[in-house]
Amino acid sequence: MEKEIMKGIVLAGGRATRLRPLTLITSKQLLPVYDKPMIFYPIETLIKAGITDILIIIAPDYSGHFLNLLGTGEEFGAHFSYVVQKEPNGLAQAFILGQEFIGTDSVTLILGDNIFEQDFSPEIKNFKDGAMIFAKQVHDPQRFGVVEFDQKMKAISIEEKPISPKSNFAVVGLYSYDNSVISLAKSLKPSARGEYEITDLNNIYLKQGKLKVNTFDSLWEDAGTFDSLLRVSNYMAKKSVK
Ligand code: TTP
Repeated sequence: MEKEIMKGIVLAGGRATRLRPLTLITSKQLLPVYDKPMIFYPIETLIKAGITDILIIIAPDYSGHFLNLLGTGEEFGAHFSYVVQKEPNGLAQAFILGQEFIGTDSVTLILGDNIFEQDFSPEIKNFKDGAMIFAKQVHDPQRFGVVEFDQKMKAISIEEKPISPKSNFAVVGLYSYDNSVISLAKSLKPSARGEYEITDLNNIYLKQGKLKVNTFDSLWEDAGTFDSLLRVSNYMAKKSVK
């Protein structure tokens, strides 16, 4: 039997309303984070983790700019494919748009505005089945999916943007799934805010006892606000000073 491989998806659509007016003239994921376009970071995180077959999901606006910038992926030592998401209907739609690309393999999704420093290859290379997500302690958990743990650090619930978070562990934008993610994504109903929620998907795996939550403590920024964009740009600038 042929070995199942890990494919990658970078989700780089969305409206980016919080970065207007910058995003009235370009896409969020093309904005600079210090000395390179934001999307280079999630692409490099996947490549560092050993994933080189990558689907990039983009919004219709400025889609040509992504192609001009990234091309075939050859310069990254990778292979890129592209698909357009007409409307930003939620993160879980990535697996429906990516169905053909994923084929019979497993897949790791990374959000196009999420910036990490860690090398996730040990975890991703060890991934076998079910789902694997990552959580980090933050000061503002109500902005994210929040994981509740029991005393043995076993995840017992995940709530999307809760008003009263049960912990300060936010789910970050890096998720690995086995091939059943495609059919599970198709079974989802849109949430109250009209989106296909990745939290709903993660909760299905959690209920089946197939969700692994890894906590970590290295750099993570969701660069979708002016403050976080500036913070991560400054961080990268300082790091580059020899
Ligand atoms: P968000 O930051 O939640 O949404 P957004 O980028 O549209 O920004 P804003 O809230 O300021 O309007 O999205 C997280 C990432 O996922 C980001 O890289 C955009 C991407 N995304 C999609 O590609 N498609 C979608 O349907 C959604 C909801 C997000």
